[in-house]
Amino acid sequence: MTEYLSTATAPGKAILLGEHAVVYGKPAIAIPVSQLRVEVTIEKFRCPDNEIWIDSPVVRLYKNVKDLPFENPLRLAIDLTKDRCTTKTFSGMMIRINSALPIGGGMGSGAAVSCALIRALSTCLDGQALPAETVNALAFEVEKIHHGNPSGVDNTVITYEQPIYFKRNTPMKMVQVGTPIHLVIADTGINSATSTMVNGVRKRYEQDKERYQGIFDSIENLVDKAHQAIEIGDINTLAMTMNENHRLLQAMEVSSFSLDRLVKTAITAGALAAKLIGAGGGGNMIALCTTETTKPVSQALNAIGAVRVFSFSLADNKGGI
Ligand code: MEV
Repeated sequence: MTEYLSTATAPGKAILLGEHAVVYGKPAIAIPVSQLRVEVTIEKFRCPDNEIWIDSPVVRLYKNVKDLPFENPLRLAIDLTKDRCTTKTFSGMMIRINSALPIGGGMGSGAAVSCALIRALSTCLDGQALPAETVNALAFEVEKIHHGNPSGVDNTVITYEQPIYFKRNTPMKMVQVGTPIHLVIADTGINSATSTMVNGVRKRYEQDKERYQGIFDSIENLVDKAHQAIEIGDINTLAMTMNENHRLLQAMEVSSFSLDRLVKTAITAGALAAKLIGAGGGGNMIALCTTETTKPVSQALNAIGAVRVFSFSLADNKGGI
């Protein structure tokens, strides 16, 4: 019979404004997507003591952790967590990872796996999860494997599962949500590696620093306007900033035909705003709707073949209702 030792989950995330510019020290606003989660369950497993196995069907991985390279993100998350825990000896275990999050879809799949894994393993070893601050710091170390220069926004919003205003190397701020925000997320179904997109922006930035600095400054301005708009419940200003942010992401060459098609469809069906989320190149877009337009926008996105369309509302400072 299966003997369960511990379990932990973590949400996905969406960046409302500020992706890419956040890598260059500009602010971003990110929200948790609590409806789509990663779940990590740890079971007793018949293998030598102190051995850990991983079963992660979404990436077709079934392996003894010691046979993974040191720089494998799962192995790194496990090694970092073991280092931080007091308990050093344990009986053999199997870590099972299940995820509803698209991989390479701009929804923080990598950071969510790290956070859930760190929490489940530390609970299993020490009887309680490591403090949020430590979970966040360790998940950030793992993010560096996904792409060399992460801003830290993904691991932070996922660890704290609250809407945040985030700026590199400054304490993050929780964002108060003044009035419910109705959102629809749709997936192009095209995977895109964050590292490729971030490296592409870096290359173009190096070629024309002045132009890119101008774009980043404009995004900063929009993020600050949006921050205030969310807190006072000014949905029209939030819509204006999100639409403008998408145009600037297009100018940075991180949007794509498929993303722009979803964005256009959402707007035509009545969304107040729509933009890509995350690194771009593929992955997901988010549309800002009202209670009345959520359904027609979702239907229109489904009708043009978006891979997964779902709606949720952000209210009372929670990730979703
Ligand atoms: C990825 O979710 C967001 C990016 O801004 C990269 C980062 O912040 O590390 C593209």
